[in-house]
Order: sequence, then C-alpha cells, then structure tokens
Amino acid sequence: MSFQIMGTGKAHPQFSLTNDQLSTIVDTNDEWISSRSGIKSRFIATTETGLELAAAAASHALDNAGMAAADLDLIICATLQGDNVTPSLACMVQQEIGAHCPAFDLNAACTGFVYALDAAAAYLDSGRAEKVLVVACEIMSKQLDWSHRSTCVLFGDGAGAVVLQKGDGLLASVLTAQGDKDLALLVPGFNNNNPFSQWPSRPTTLSMDGRKVFKFAVGAMAKDVKKVLAQAGLTPAQVKMVIPHQANIRIIQSAAKLLGFSEEQTAVGIDHYGNTSSASIPLVLDDLWRQGKIQRGDIIVLSAFGGGFTTGACVIKL
Ligand code: UT7
Repeated sequence: MSFQIMGTGKAHPQFSLTNDQLSTIVDTNDEWISSRSGIKSRFIATTETGLELAAAAASHALDNAGMAAADLDLIICATLQGDNVTPSLACMVQQEIGAHCPAFDLNAACTGFVYALDAAAAYLDSGRAEKVLVVACEIMSKQLDWSHRSTCVLFGDGAGAVVLQKGDGLLASVLTAQGDKDLALLVPGFNNNNPFSQWPSRPTTLSMDGRKVFKFAVGAMAKDVKKVLAQAGLTPAQVKMVIPHQANIRIIQSAAKLLGFSEEQTAVGIDHYGNTSSASIPLVLDDLWRQGKIQRGDIIVLSAFGGGFTTGACVIKL
C-alpha cells in the first residue's frame, strides 16, 4: 500500500486557556477537568481563522517535506466545518498556499484525519495522484455552548498536516461507520429564518452523551488496533508509538492497557491541546516527529473514533 509521509506540520492559536481561567466562566475547577479528562489547558482561537491555522500547518508540512505547493496533486482537508460551508476549507487552503490541484473537505468527525489518509492512499494507489496534502483543522470553540460546563471544558482549536508521496509506508488501514440514531455526539449546526419551517428549533452547538461515547471509544479503539496490527503482521512490541485520538486521558490509558502498549509507547497531547477533534492526531504526530521521538523507519499506529459513530486505525512505517 501506498504512501510515505514526507513532512508534517501544525499550527494552533496563540491563546492558551487554562482550567483555572475556565472556572471563572462556568462552574468547574482544575481538579474535575484534570482528573476526568487529563486536560490542563487548550488553545482557543481569538482572532485566528480556520484558514490561517490550516494554511500554516500545510506550509510547515510542505517546508518539512522540502516540497512546493505547486507540486501537489490533491488536497484533502479533514474538518467538522471550515470557516464557511462553501467554499470548502480545502479550496481556501489551496488558494492561500499557492497550489493548483483539486481540493475537497472530508467530515468524519474526530476520525477525519485517519479517513483522509485512507482516501489519499486510494488516490496514490490508483495513480491519480503522486503527492497529496492532508490537513486536519478544527475550530471547536465555534461549535460549543460556552455556558455548558460538561462540554466547553473539553475541546480546543488547532490544525495538523502531512504531505504524502507514493510509497509503501501504509502497512494496514481500517475504517468503520455505525450510524448512531441516539446522536450521542451531535453538532446540528444549522439555524436560519425559513418562514415555512415546521421543524422545532434546536440548539446549534455541540452536545454529547459523554459516558456512551467513552464506552464506545475504548472498545472500538482496541478492536481496530488489534485488526490493523494483525493485518500488518505486527505485535505491540514492534510499534514505536501509538498515537490515539486525544479525547480523554482515561480513554487513551484504558485502550493502551487493553492492547498491551506501555506508557512510553503511548502518545499524549491532550494535557495542553484538549480535544481538537480530527486535528488531535496530526498535532501530536508533528510534535513527536520534530522532537525526534519518532524517526524514519519507525512503526507507528494511529487510532481514532468520533461522532457518527466513525472509527479508524492504521499502521504506518515512517
Ligand atoms: O472526541 C469526541 C469524543 N468525545 C469523547 O471521547 C468524550 C468521552 N467522554 C468523556 O470523556 C467523559 O465522559 C467526560 C469527561 C465527558 C465526563 O466524565 P464522566 O466521568 O463521564 O462524568 P459525568 O458526565 O458522568 O459527570 C459526573 C458529574 C456530574 O455531576 P453529578 O450528576 O454526578 O452531580 C456532572 O454534572 O460531573 C459533573 N460535571 C462537572 N463538574 C465540574 C460535568 N462537567 C463538569 C465540569 N466541572 N466541567
């Protein structure tokens, strides 16, 4: 299978919001947030747009790969929602960085980055692209009700990117989707003044049945990662790092324990990023890559779950 990661990049807003600062806005405290989620602070966009973050992450990844935007054959942007419904964030990034290739957004909630890698692999495998930019960018702070302590303390904003080239680094990949009629993780989004509408009005912001999502997440991650490791013919001991979706430190630790990954093998960025949805894996990936904690030739495992429900995991040889 079909790609090599040539470069990584990331960007986040300047403003870092601490748990103590949050406790002046809603009835919460550092002890509750840290012990239940592992989050200490998160970056929140004040003036930054999704386009600025996504384009900055993309440019860093291109620099890191030693490639020019004009070399790209495709841009896939994983996002719950860009700055606008249309134009897509991918089209805006394409224009901003000076690329000339097709570009589209992909929404698989927090699993978006893993879905986008899989889609990129299909383009590379089929020969329809030689170089692909995948950017995951989320401004979660726009999706939240900032008076709801059960959700507004959990999320953050950021973007992460990779530049991919045809290669044989993707050793295994699995994606799943199971429509959830109970809508345990919901962002309705739309609300306008249609005078003919008979629909009951409902909030447009994110709501979540945290316990249901938690239970689903641990089982799904364990199942997906076992599957991709088996496909790749590898054991956990052969994996340098597993980079799980950063939604809750307790989910990460429970899944890692079930799978037999040590603490040193398990990447954690939730303490200072919060949950940045699809951007959470590439943000941490870029940190590990630039810190030299993962290097060319290492085996890494990515695993994510999100609204929908969607899940995905893959094994990559760097
Ligand atoms: O990437 C998207 C996927 N999302 C996730 O993966 C989230 C998965 N779920 C979770 O991470 C956890 O379920 C949460 C962190 C969201 C919540 O942890 P929990 O241990 O499941 O807590 P809970 O929702 O059962 O709430 C326990 C208590 C409640 O009070 P009572 O009813 O026991 O009196 C809440 O009202 O904690 C209260 N609470 C808070 N207290 C202080 C809820 N939010 C807060 C808060 N500060 N921010």
